[in-house]
Amino acid sequence: MVFYSKMPNLNFEIIFNSMANKKPGITTEKECNGINESRRDFLKQSSLLTGLAITPAAVLKAAEEKWDEEFASSLEKMPLKLEINGVNHDLSVEPRTTLLDLLREQLALTGTKKGCDYGQCGACTVHVNGKRVLSCLSLAVMQQGKKITTIEGLADGEKLHPMQQAFIKHDGFQCGYCTPGQIMSAVACIREGHANSEAEIREFMSGNICRCGAYPNIVDAIMEVKEGGQQV
Ligand code: FES
Ligand code: FES
Repeated sequence: MVFYSKMPNLNFEIIFNSMANKKPGITTEKECNGINESRRDFLKQSSLLTGLAITPAAVLKAAEEKWDEEFASSLEKMPLKLEINGVNHDLSVEPRTTLLDLLREQLALTGTKKGCDYGQCGACTVHVNGKRVLSCLSLAVMQQGKKITTIEGLADGEKLHPMQQAFIKHDGFQCGYCTPGQIMSAVACIREGHANSEAEIREFMSGNICRCGAYPNIVDAIMEVKEGGQQV
């Protein structure tokens, strides 16, 4: 091709057409590419086989057992001290672990729900030092030394929290999936002083989505607790 390209007056179509009727012993460009590819494949395969043949057995075994991944993850883990529902925990977590995954996957506190995992639905709401937080958007390591309250920690032993009782009384749920997050938000809403009217409650509960549409009953439950003046 280099030779031809230096001859601008030659018609390439004629050249390749004539090569299609090539004489024995002449190799076309297409055939050249095919030979080069199979040669490359051969070299790749033989290099791989040679590499495997000279790799020590211990290294192969380590790769098989994924020791490197386990070693790396043990190095990556960070110590974390938290108080969760009144109990102190000394933990070891990967820096990328969210508070939600720590609660659900590592501590089996599955009352806190994972809805969207993107900060859109409020199902994962918990309290951190008394303030509501979306646990799916919060890294566990950011909570060092803090007090976490989940729905499991709201009741006083067998005695339900007033907001839990009000949700039952007013039928503030259907499937119940959003309910732990709704209740945690509802308690925070009253503590924040944002439950003075139905409109205000709707506004400050708007981050908690209920796919079953139990909103009117949820508002009634919150109004009752607020008006009852009970400690929340
Ligand atoms: S799971 Fe956290 S906001 Fe939806
Ligand atoms: S009760 Fe079903 S999503 Fe709210």
